[in-house]
Formats: sequence, C-alpha cells, structure tokens
Amino acid sequence: MPIPRETVDQILQTARIEEVVGEFVTLKKRGANYIGLCPFHNEKTGSFNVNPARNIFKCFGCGKGGDSAKFLMEHEHLTYPEALRYLAKKYNIQIEEKELSPEELMAQTEREKMFNINAFADKFFVDTLWNTDEGKSVGLEYFRERGFLNPIIERFHLGYSPSKWEAFTEHAKQNGYNPEFLEKVGFCIKRQNGEYYDRYHGRVMFPIHNLTGKVIGFGGRILQADPEKKLAKYQNSPESEIYQKKETLYGIYFAKGAIVNKDECILVEGYFDVLRMHQLGIENVVASSGTSLTIEQIRLVKRYTRNITMLYDGDAAGLHAALRGTDMILAEGMNVRVVVLPPEHDPDSFGKEYPTEEVVAYLQKNAKDFVRFKTELLLKDAANDPIKRGQVVRSIVETISVVPDSIFRISYVKETSRLLDMPEETLMMELNKLLRAKFKKSLGVEGEVIPDEPIITQPQEKPEEETLPPGYYQEQDLVRLLLLYGSDLVTIKRLDENDQEVEEQLSVAQLIIDDLINDEIRFSDPVNLKIFNIFDQALNTNELPNNQFFTSNEDEQMVNLAINLLTTPHKLDQWEKYEIFVKQEQDHLLETVQDALLRYKDQIIDAKQREIQKKLKEEEDVDNQLILLKEKKHWDDLRLQINSHLGIVIVK
Ligand code: CTP
Ligand code: MN
Repeated sequence: MPIPRETVDQILQTARIEEVVGEFVTLKKRGANYIGLCPFHNEKTGSFNVNPARNIFKCFGCGKGGDSAKFLMEHEHLTYPEALRYLAKKYNIQIEEKELSPEELMAQTEREKMFNINAFADKFFVDTLWNTDEGKSVGLEYFRERGFLNPIIERFHLGYSPSKWEAFTEHAKQNGYNPEFLEKVGFCIKRQNGEYYDRYHGRVMFPIHNLTGKVIGFGGRILQADPEKKLAKYQNSPESEIYQKKETLYGIYFAKGAIVNKDECILVEGYFDVLRMHQLGIENVVASSGTSLTIEQIRLVKRYTRNITMLYDGDAAGLHAALRGTDMILAEGMNVRVVVLPPEHDPDSFGKEYPTEEVVAYLQKNAKDFVRFKTELLLKDAANDPIKRGQVVRSIVETISVVPDSIFRISYVKETSRLLDMPEETLMMELNKLLRAKFKKSLGVEGEVIPDEPIITQPQEKPEEETLPPGYYQEQDLVRLLLLYGSDLVTIKRLDENDQEVEEQLSVAQLIIDDLINDEIRFSDPVNLKIFNIFDQALNTNELPNNQFFTSNEDEQMVNLAINLLTTPHKLDQWEKYEIFVKQEQDHLLETVQDALLRYKDQIIDAKQREIQKKLKEEEDVDNQLILLKEKKHWDDLRLQINSHLGIVIVK
C-alpha cells in the first residue's frame, strides 16, 4: 500500500540525517557537519560526511550519498517503503494504515513477511516462558538455574518453545501463516506424512536481533545434555533474506552503545557468554555464535570501534579459534587483543563464578596484544626445537605483514624481537621479503594492494576534457544554483513595454529558466535537462521543488548529480570553506545568478557561432544556407547583447 505523498514529505522533513546515520555510524562533530568512517567501503580515515543543514550524507571516498531514506536502503538493505516506515516509527509519524485485504497481504514483500513472522514468534516464545506452566517450570527454571535474573531474560527477549510437537505450528497457522512459509523461515519441519512439527519444540529460545533491534532469527537450546549427541545442542534459523549468519553478531543491538562508549568490543563465542557479561554490567560484548569469525562481522564491529578484545575459552580449541580471527582483524587495520581464560572456563562459567570487579581485573591483566598472544602460544608448542622455532618466527612475521599501517608494523617487530630475543634487523628483513612478495603478487594477480593511507579520490566522474560539451562547467554551475536557490526570491529591475524601469520580484528558477528559454538555449546534459524541465513545469504551478525533491528522488542519476553538486568538488577539509563560500553567494544571489548565466551563454554562443560557421562553409544548397544564416543572426544578436551586458535583465 503506497504511503501518501504528504506523509512521505513529512517523514523526510522530520528525519534528521545525523540522527538516522548516527544509529549505525560513530559520528564526530566537525564544524557544522559530522564525519565518520564510511560504512559502505573499507577505510581508515573518515571521508564519510553528514551534513545536517542539507539533511544528506555523502562519502568522499566511495561517492555514496543521499538522504535518510537512501542511507537506510543502502545500509540496512531496506526497500524504499521499508525505509520510510522505519523513519516514521523512529519519529512517531502516523502512517494511515487500513486493514490489509488478502491481496494486500500477499503483496507485502517477502522481507516484511519474514520480519513479521519473527516478531510474531518472538512474542509467542516470550509469552510461553512467562505465562504458561511449562514455560515457567521448565524454561524459566532453566535460566534461573544457570544463574540468570529477570532483567537479562527480559532485555534479551529470551523465551521458551513448548515441548508439544506442534504448539507453535498450530498457533501460527491459526494466525494465518501457511506451513510452507513457516518451514522456509525455519520454524517448522515437514514429516514424511506431510505434517509439520516445531523445529524448536522443548527448547529455550534466543531471538537474534539486527542492528535496529528487529528479530531476524532464533537459536534454540535443548535443556538436557543429550549423551548420545543425536540432538544438536542448538538449533538455529536457516539463512534467509533477512538472516545471514556471516553478517550477524549476537547481541550487537544491545551492545553497540557500550561499544562506542568504551571504544572497545569484546568478542565471545556463545549466547550464554553474552548474557553473562551483560548481567555483570559488561555490556560491550557480542558473540560470533559458533561460526568462525568472518570479515563481515569484523567490519560490523569496525563501525563502532577499532579495538577488539577476543575473550575465548582457555581450551585448545578456543585458543586456535582466536588465532584464526586475529589476522583478519589486523588486516582490517584494527587492534586486537586476546584474553585467555583458565582452561576449565568459558566466559559464562567464569562470570558466574567471579564478581564483576574480578572479571574486569582479569580482563585488564590478561589482555595480550596478538604478538604476545601468538608468540607465547606457538613457543609453548615449539619448546626448544630450533626448526619449530624458525616456523614460529615466520608465522608471526606473516601476521605482522597483514597489518596495513607501517608504523604499527614496526612496533610489532620491536615487540617480537624482545619476546623471541632476536635482532630487530633479522625480523625486519624477513618482513620486507614477505611484503615485497605480496606486492609483486598483487601486481601480477588481481589482488588488493593496501596503501598505507587511503587516497581520497574524486568520486564524481567527469567526462574527459576533450569530449566536454560546450559550457559544461557553466551548465553544472547553473544546475547547482537552481538546486540550491531555485525558490529563493530576487528583485530585479527591468524595462517594461514603455521602456520604463520597473522592479520585479521573481524566483531564481524563473530568472534562469525564463532567460534561457528566451534565448532558445537548453541544457545539453540529459540529467541537467531533466532538472531544467522539472523547474520549467513547476514554474507554471508556482510550486517549486526544493533540494530534498532532488536528493530524495527515485531517479538515481538525478540524486547522484544533486548530491554531488550540493557537496563536491570540495574535498573534506575544504567543506568548511565551501560553506563560507555558499554564504557569500547567498548574500549576492542576483549577481551570482546573472554572472553564471552570462558565463554560460558566452560559452554556448561561442560554440554555436563556430558550429554554424563550419556548416556554412560546407553547405552548398542556397535554401539551407539561408536557414543557417538566420540562425547565425540569432546567435550574433545574442553575442552583442552579452557583450554589452544587455540580457533581458538589466543589472541595477
Ligand atoms: N552453536 C550452535 N550450534 C551448536 C553448538 C553451538 O549454533 N550445535 C553456537 C551457539 O551460538 C553457541 C556457540 O556456538 O552459543 C558456542 O557454543 P557452545 O560453547 O557449545 O555453547 P554455549 O553458548 O556455551 O552454551 P552452553 O553454555 O549452554 O553449553
Ligand atoms: Mn557455555
């Protein structure tokens, strides 16, 4: 069901770009704007800009830009209506919804349906936990026994799925969900005889939330240990459009605030580890949920902090899991530390045994940077075997070589030299050999060379100089003025029919459009022309489009152009200067516009005159020559006008 246009406008006007983006990206204030690390490409320095005045974002690194809705579409992979609904909810704007007809229900997007069933199931499992006999005596009792208190159980929406085989299936069917869909999203499993039963029956339930707090899947744990190991300890939702394991971190929604505050993210393995830490008041904790850490998960963390602490089990499996993760984190230019727990513990059991202060103290005392962690771990295995020791050195140098920043590399070499009691130069030579080999490989094969500092490139694609149409830059400038000041009013003096000077107020758009139409000039770039036509038509209705119309448009090309013109070509550090420049421009709007028109026409006329001259030389037909001569006269007249600064508008 379409959202009424007025509501869309209201939503987009109410939404504050810095607030919307701020939920996902750590923003720092810089002057009137905010900057942060771009969530759309991998970078070390913030080229991601948020401009509250224009209500848009723009990355000077990868070129992405747009309004709040565009941000959500790109970042959360929402559709346009989904993005609008998200914003409406955030800003308490009522969208008039009627009762959905069956057809409309069908038309709901698959994604919305998936969010919907997950929210529905979440409610059911929570209800069952707190309000049914079995839920209380079995589910809640289980959490209690493991030492979890109400606030945590409530905050994380822990639940219980009844042991009756079809309890949820029946409940969902009664509420209009069909079994095939339930099976697809993972709530049901089909029996041989075609009947469906609950995948999670008799399990305690962990809803998995995305960054915005929506439930995207579940993990369900059996209650009794299964000695024959026929039953998996955890059943998890299958991958779907809304749930991708490798992009998900359990607990991120509840942890992101604390991660930013502490500027550190503690990474654990399991659901219960997250719960335990939160219950201790250590809230900057997320879990990779059993899968080995992925690059996507690391980048998710990187939006909030550069510092990861891995808190892994003290057993061999835990240690090696940690080891696998560190290289990936380092290669992202992040800092990683590892805390190893006593061998008999995982974070959950450790946190159950010790009070918060002791856990915090343990973390502080035992956090090792990866060089120390890896060196100590590998040396233990190598003992005094010289060949093995050589392998350890190589392996550590290899890890150092993935660190993108040379300064850090050097400091890690120093540390390794100390720990292994080896000369720095030897290690440095080894490292350089590796780096050179990597570099060569990256030249030969298609691979990524990570430069020490990312180079901020100009994202806006400009045509090659030679192929630029006449007046290209001047045309862009006029479009920019249209977008920025189209509806602003200026006062001009002009001559009326009796050659009397009269004052007239008109919009910048009218000034530009009328003047160009009068001189039979149209923009040559198709997107510019589109904008020209929109203003031309709007002038008939007297309702001029504002910036937002162009930055929030369905026409992608137009949005890109608008964003670019409203922000570039001014590099990051020049943004402030740019704002000052705009201010000056505003104070002298009439002169600015007239000047831009004159400069544009100057270019166009020049080009036209040359073009006609050339055609005249080649044309042999007399009639055609006459037509060309007429045309020539038009441009020659204009040339005269321009030269004497006699547009239709007379400056003061
Ligand atoms: N996991 C899973 N499926 C399994 C086993 C584990 O998805 N069959 C995931 C879960 O996210 C689990 C994490 O891996 O939380 C860590 O596994 P494990 O340490 O075995 O589970 P714990 O969370 O520690 O659960 P418990 O303390 O109840 O054993
Ligand atoms: Mn555990």
